[in-house]
Amino acid sequence: DETQKLRVALLDWYDLNHRDLPWRTHHRESEEKQEEEEEEEVERRAYGVWVSEVMLQQTRVQTVIAYYNRWMKKWPTIHHLAQASLEEVNEMWAGLGYYRRARFLFEGAKKIVAEGGKIPKMASMLRKIPGIGDYTSGAIASIAFKEVVPVVDGNVVRVIARLRAVSANPKDSATVKRFWKLAAQLVDPIRPGDFNQALMELGATVCTPLNPSCSSCPASEFCHALSNAKHDSTVAVTDY
Ligand code: ADE
Repeated sequence: DETQKLRVALLDWYDLNHRDLPWRTHHRESEEKQEEEEEEEVERRAYGVWVSEVMLQQTRVQTVIAYYNRWMKKWPTIHHLAQASLEEVNEMWAGLGYYRRARFLFEGAKKIVAEGGKIPKMASMLRKIPGIGDYTSGAIASIAFKEVVPVVDGNVVRVIARLRAVSANPKDSATVKRFWKLAAQLVDPIRPGDFNQALMELGATVCTPLNPSCSSCPASEFCHALSNAKHDSTVAVTDY
């Protein structure tokens, strides 16, 4: 159906166009790998996704890359981070702003290590960690653990608003709730993490607030805002 075609179009686009970012370490499926090794790699990836997504909440991708690499060099696992001091954490965060987020990350790491050292795999469990809300829990669960849950940020709200021609005030909390529901219906059941990142990436690079590049958009044939604009010259894609 229409939703499935849209998923395939977005995932194909993502496979060809995604940026190679340091926290997007590729998942290698290898038969020789021991289960333990595999488990460890998943844990590392989850920690990396957590660190990167918290950094990305306030800062552009290009700036985050250097911060992320420095952070991971100093504290390559959650166990290393749990041994740090708040002073070191703040020093490492300097320039990113919102130091509360760094402190939550640090406190969260200590809590997880104190409770056995395993990052929870489900969004509903992740949300119990202070500082991890709907966004971060959805990102970690879907990207690192392949749980079929949505992730909604400002970019995703705009992309879905246009795809579905929904006019709504994005600052209204009822609107945001509605978009989480819409995103949950869209998310790809096989590759939820890639799908969520495709939506975010599409919003950041193609479906931009001003002057979106509809002619190079993989979802243009599914976009109700675009078809409305084509049929009615008084409305624009950017109205959504
Ligand atoms: N913005 C925030 N997180 C992102 C991600 N994982 N991929 C693309 N854009 C993002």
